[in-house]
Amino acid sequence: MKFRKFGKTSWDVSEIGFGAWAIGGNAWGKQNDSDSLQALHKALDLGVNFIDTAQSYGNGHSESLIGQVLKERGEKIGNGSVKVATKIPPSDGHWPPLPYDDCRIRYSEKYLRQRVEFSLQKLGAEVLDLVQLHTWTRAWNQNPVALEILRELKKEGKILAIGISTPEHDQNSLNDLMKNGWLDAVQVIYNIFEQEPAAEFLPLAKENQVGVIVRVVFDEGSLTGKYHQDHVFHEGDFRRRYFKGDRLKDTLQKVEEVKKTIGEYGDPKVDNLLSVAARFALQNPAVSTVIPGMRNLQQAEIDCSFSELPPLNKTLYSALKNHTWRRAFWYGG
Ligand SMILES: NC(=O)c1ccc[n+]([C@@H]2O[C@H](COP(=O)([O-])OP(=O)(O)OC[C@H]3O[C@@H](n4cnc5c(N)ncnc54)[C@H](OP(=O)(O)O)[C@@H]3O)[C@@H](O)[C@H]2O)c1
Repeated sequence: MKFRKFGKTSWDVSEIGFGAWAIGGNAWGKQNDSDSLQALHKALDLGVNFIDTAQSYGNGHSESLIGQVLKERGEKIGNGSVKVATKIPPSDGHWPPLPYDDCRIRYSEKYLRQRVEFSLQKLGAEVLDLVQLHTWTRAWNQNPVALEILRELKKEGKILAIGISTPEHDQNSLNDLMKNGWLDAVQVIYNIFEQEPAAEFLPLAKENQVGVIVRVVFDEGSLTGKYHQDHVFHEGDFRRRYFKGDRLKDTLQKVEEVKKTIGEYGDPKVDNLLSVAARFALQNPAVSTVIPGMRNLQQAEIDCSFSELPPLNKTLYSALKNHTWRRAFWYGG
């Protein structure tokens, strides 16, 4: 496993981090805790030292499993050698926030303080490594009071770093916050289809030394190549919505085009769809870590191995840039 600097922090984070949404067990269809625990242990055995979770992943269940595994391994939880990034959702209401929503209401001080206590308890930690606001809206940049409250919590020693996870439909809404020094970290969708962040977002993060966590590197699984035209996503699996209607058909066509490019310019010994998808994101020097969603031991083993592979060759990398595809649909992740 290779490691990278994480913004201005002193942390060296693993290039592959653990995406812990599905192990929350409430949004990706059936998930056994035993598979989740094995996946976490395997990833940590293979050098992962960065885990991304959220309070909404099973209402704290993902956080509890992470706390359990770190405890079993004798790891310090919070300010230890494994960094855990969690997320606080806005208080009850629309997702994404409505244009009329007030930051002081959706992320009030009382609410944020309560939610920090929630994660401390679920993880079994005394301090949280990284707290990310789970979503945001551009209008709040005018007066980002929620970030002031998080700064206060940082001073009080409850949290070590502050971040925001981009709203899918307006990822550049965090650009001004990065420029103005509000954020230690950002979480962004950046993959072979969603390449828009390469234009402004990632260069700004690098310039301002903001840690970058890349999510959805497999486009919610399409870039693993395992879906087919008649694929059925079960009840309770959010991909039923994400790939609904003709989206799956369109996506599969685009995936075939990507595979063709890999076949043409890649090295068959190391370049398959999965390994290329993960390394495409890692190729951008602004990126600190990519966090594939891992649900079982095999996925952890495969996904962690990508850091050992060489970077993509220049011809393949530039050919992949032509696969940028702006879909601009909302899935509420
Ligand atoms: N708004 C937000 O802040 C937000 C939104 C989305 C995600 N995230 C974070 O980003 C992480 C990653 O995103 P994601 O999990 O949504 O999507 P993703 O990483 O693009 O896709 C994950 C899925 O890919 C499949 N997969 C992974 N490794 C595989 C392998 N080696 N072989 C075959 N299939 C493999 C699994 O699908 P199967 O289920 O079919 O096994 C897995 O559930 C999340 O876990 C979460 O931590 C944050």
